[in-house]
Amino acid sequence: MHFKIADDSEGRLVVLSERRGLIKTSGNGIYVSLPDEAGPAGRSVSDVVLHGRIEIDELPENIMCDWSGAYESGEPGFIEHGGPSVGLGVDPLFADIEQATLKWASAYGMADAMRLSRHTPVVCQGASFHSDAENFAQYGFCVVWLSQRDGLDLLFPNVDVRIPLEFGSIVFFDAAQPHGTVFEGYDSWCAQQYQRRAVDFRTRHFLSFDFPIAHPSVVCGLKLNLFSAEAGKHRHERLTVQGQHRTVDSVTGLWRKSP
Ligand SMILES: [Fe+2]
Repeated sequence: MHFKIADDSEGRLVVLSERRGLIKTSGNGIYVSLPDEAGPAGRSVSDVVLHGRIEIDELPENIMCDWSGAYESGEPGFIEHGGPSVGLGVDPLFADIEQATLKWASAYGMADAMRLSRHTPVVCQGASFHSDAENFAQYGFCVVWLSQRDGLDLLFPNVDVRIPLEFGSIVFFDAAQPHGTVFEGYDSWCAQQYQRRAVDFRTRHFLSFDFPIAHPSVVCGLKLNLFSAEAGKHRHERLTVQGQHRTVDSVTGLWRKSP
């Protein structure tokens, strides 16, 4: 499929597909750059999103309750830690999930990178669209969803990938690639939908792994381009398209020109 990047009348970056017309995808030309550098001096943003499902057992009820208890804001759109970040092999509670995740990653040649990761228990109702480039540009993310299916999808609008979230869903992606959650049948963020459903669906849980994006196996697996020896190793980086700073629209997930 061939893509062409263009700005629409509202200054949003959109991508046109020869076959499908307008689609919400970043395509090529979007980079994470080092501070104060213009253009593709850092690394590309991967368009690859790997996803599937792993066979794991549910965690004990009391653990999930403790986890939920850490959810202080209760605000749709905000993701909060349900416990500390730990390296693989530190907490026996997560040993089975780690093993299943490593096995899954090995199918894509990325098990070595995953062994270097840390994981964090996370609680939320859902997430508005965002890129994690600013704080996690040196990482790829692996999400293992630990709540039962309730109509929530993980959406990567710029690469046209939608993943129905169910217990055991696993997703590998570039932290810089914009992502967020929407309900089945929708393609934009709406906090009111979560508030209406809050009685039935108070919290959702997942385990988030971060792995080094510049690891050779990840560069290969996520089809990344590194443009310097320092690319993919820094935290404070920014997204650029053809030298222009870009941000992400929190409702649609589309790239926007930064003022
Ligand atoms: Fe995120």
